[in-house]
Amino acid sequence: MKLLFKNIKELLQVRSEPITWVAGEAMKTLPSIQNAFLCIEDDLITDFGKMADCPQKSFDEIIDATGKMILPAWCDSHTHLVFAGNREGEFVDRIKGLSYEEIANKGGGILNSAQKLNQTSEESLFEQSAKRLEEVMQLGTGAIEIKSGYGLTLEGELKMLRVIKKLKESYPIEVKATFLGAHAIPATYKDDKSGYLKMLIEEAMPRIAQEKLAEYVDIFCEKGYFSIEDTELILAAGKQHGLIPKIHVNQFTVMGGVATAIKHQALSVDHLKELEDADIEALKGSSTMPVALPSCSFFLGIPYTPARRLIEAGLPLALATDYNPGSAPSGNMNFVVATACIKMKMTPEEAINAATLNGAYAMGLEKELGSITIGKKANLILTKAISSYAFIPYSFGENQIEKVYIKGKIAP
Ligand code: NIG
Ligand code: FE
Repeated sequence: MKLLFKNIKELLQVRSEPITWVAGEAMKTLPSIQNAFLCIEDDLITDFGKMADCPQKSFDEIIDATGKMILPAWCDSHTHLVFAGNREGEFVDRIKGLSYEEIANKGGGILNSAQKLNQTSEESLFEQSAKRLEEVMQLGTGAIEIKSGYGLTLEGELKMLRVIKKLKESYPIEVKATFLGAHAIPATYKDDKSGYLKMLIEEAMPRIAQEKLAEYVDIFCEKGYFSIEDTELILAAGKQHGLIPKIHVNQFTVMGGVATAIKHQALSVDHLKELEDADIEALKGSSTMPVALPSCSFFLGIPYTPARRLIEAGLPLALATDYNPGSAPSGNMNFVVATACIKMKMTPEEAINAATLNGAYAMGLEKELGSITIGKKANLILTKAISSYAFIPYSFGENQIEKVYIKGKIAP
């Protein structure tokens, strides 16, 4: 199947040479071609350039994109999209004045979701999650990472990971799975955190490795959840089972988790709402991607990741949704990009770089996705007719997407 998009008003994130990530000053540039064409063949990008050089050969379909733009589909590198039910009761409690911590302390939060998940069948969990996955694809997401972490029992965690695997097999979107057994201490291990960690390491990890259920390992490194020592333990054990770290760190408290993650060659450190200069120094020269999750800051009313400090230190930054029932019940990457511009003072160029190429890196997909490059997967957003790409974050809460293509086909 050969497809030609012609008369594209502006083709964004064009990289002739593949690059691994965009950092610092370079994030200010979003390379593009105005009045462009783009060819795809089956699931791959095969050619692009200026309309003056548009090939004349025969195509199965020609799409006239006059007035419209094309950019790579969003790469959402941090989600908890597989969950059971919702937590809008807690949302109302927070409106009335309770904090996230107070809600968690009275049995809400992650433990509330874990209880719901363990009472839900694998089939129902798949159906609920598939609906969310279809919705985010329509919103322009072409690659997604999904974590476990609402099971908190051996069976519950394996059930979540099997659902993620089934989503991967059922949809064209690229899915990466992360084992987040160390998300909270379940009630059954209330006074026995080390017993819980032992179960995760000795029972869950070997099963996950054997059944190839996850690529990554995560831990909620946070006061009241898991310490630096716990993080060391989980990341070292993960390594032995071939699981690469991507961790929750500095959401509410700085504990030194950034340096620990880097020591263990984490692919990403996510949240970073709180950030000390030592964290920035630790990130310099590392191969770890900092990831900001602005929807969580928005929803909980907590600080935003200081994007300007990170970028001005020469570091890269990725943006992701954190889609989950407690702190970010939205998988909308368009909202993330807009919020990054509005609240974190990222320019549209920086935000689009962060939500495409850098997001792809944070899932180990930078060779296949995240830019318009020959040989990469044809995961694309075709916008409606818009005046400029800055209109995408500017018109926050609106949808500027006309069609989404995943591996060369219109998203289901
Ligand atoms: O990334 N911080 C830990 N995990 C999620 C929230 C989980 C929940 O509240 O259900 C997050 O914000
Ligand atoms: Fe998260």
